[in-house]
Amino acid sequence: MTLRKIARMGHPVLWAQARPVDLPLSAALQTLADDMIETMRDAPGVGLAAPQVHESLRLIVVQPERGPDAQPLVLVNPVLEPVGDTIEIGLEGCLSMPDLQGLVPRFHAVRYRGFDRTGQPIDALAEGFFARVLQHEVDHLDGILYPMRMRDPRDLAYTREARHLIERMDRLAAGDPEP
Ligand code: NI
Repeated sequence: MTLRKIARMGHPVLWAQARPVDLPLSAALQTLADDMIETMRDAPGVGLAAPQVHESLRLIVVQPERGPDAQPLVLVNPVLEPVGDTIEIGLEGCLSMPDLQGLVPRFHAVRYRGFDRTGQPIDALAEGFFARVLQHEVDHLDGILYPMRMRDPRDLAYTREARHLIERMDRLAAGDPEP
């Protein structure tokens, strides 16, 4: 496995609409999936989309749980569908935007469909943090970075100022947006 170079905001590959992947995965794309898992773990991160490693393809890897034994999910041609209309504001970062964090509204729950790396269909539900990561990664396939989902430019901050964002998130949750 090889660590791949991560594209940073500004690189056009991050603004492109990624192409669907042909199934079954070719040997080259199996290697891409392995490399993406290694790159995500090394970063470290909890999700990575193929465009972030300069491959404009609809393939993501996600770490649904923490811990050394947690198996990453490889999802090919993913499609998300909101479940319910509950929206939560939460803190996100992105390996393509190092040292920054933002407050991003996401659906609390989503149904996710697609294929695993062996070509088997996947159809399952995700909630909370896992649902947030899926929404963030699938956005990458459509050329969307999380600041494009934020409600207010003040919701973006450097990580070392993130405690102000957390305070802001708490005020927003309490219905008091100012300042
Ligand atoms: Ni990202």
